[in-house]
Amino acid sequence: MLNFDKIRKKNICLVGMMGSGKSIIAKELSKYFKIQHLDSDTEIEKNAGKSINLLFKDYGEKIFRDLEMEVCTKLLTNENCIISLGGGSICNSKIRELIKKYSYSIYLKVNLGTLEKRLKHNFKRPLLKNVNKKQKLEEIYREREKYYNRANLIIDNEDKQKSIKKIIEILKT
Ligand code: S3P
Repeated sequence: MLNFDKIRKKNICLVGMMGSGKSIIAKELSKYFKIQHLDSDTEIEKNAGKSINLLFKDYGEKIFRDLEMEVCTKLLTNENCIISLGGGSICNSKIRELIKKYSYSIYLKVNLGTLEKRLKHNFKRPLLKNVNKKQKLEEIYREREKYYNRANLIIDNEDKQKSIKKIIEILKT
């Protein structure tokens, strides 16, 4: 059982850079603890009827960020859920406030070299299209690091199974 009294929050949320394993770990935790998993990108795509890639292409990043704020606001005010948040949502101060208020946040920390390798052949991330991926990841990380580091728990996620085990140990009753 997940000990919500221990964490004193309504939800668990996973934050971190793209490719850090938020969705996959959230899915595993959701199965283990038998609680609902919600993912901000999935909800944005469902609402818009378009992929994140197409949303960026057709409307631009600003509109995507507005949709992201709307969706994250809804997700973060749920109860008893595991929520995986798109990597850039942390840049929004309203989202950060909601995370702090309602969620026990877990930052999945992965070094940039590993992220670069994981994302090398992945074309689902519009921010990494037609740019030097290494440079872009470094730039994004520098901007966001200070926010990610405010999480309630920081897990070095180089090994998924070890991270899941650690998180379960900390969260269970
Ligand atoms: C983004 C991360 C993506 C997605 C969008 C923008 C970002 O989510 O929301 O491509 O700004 O870091 P993941 O972190 O799930 O890849």
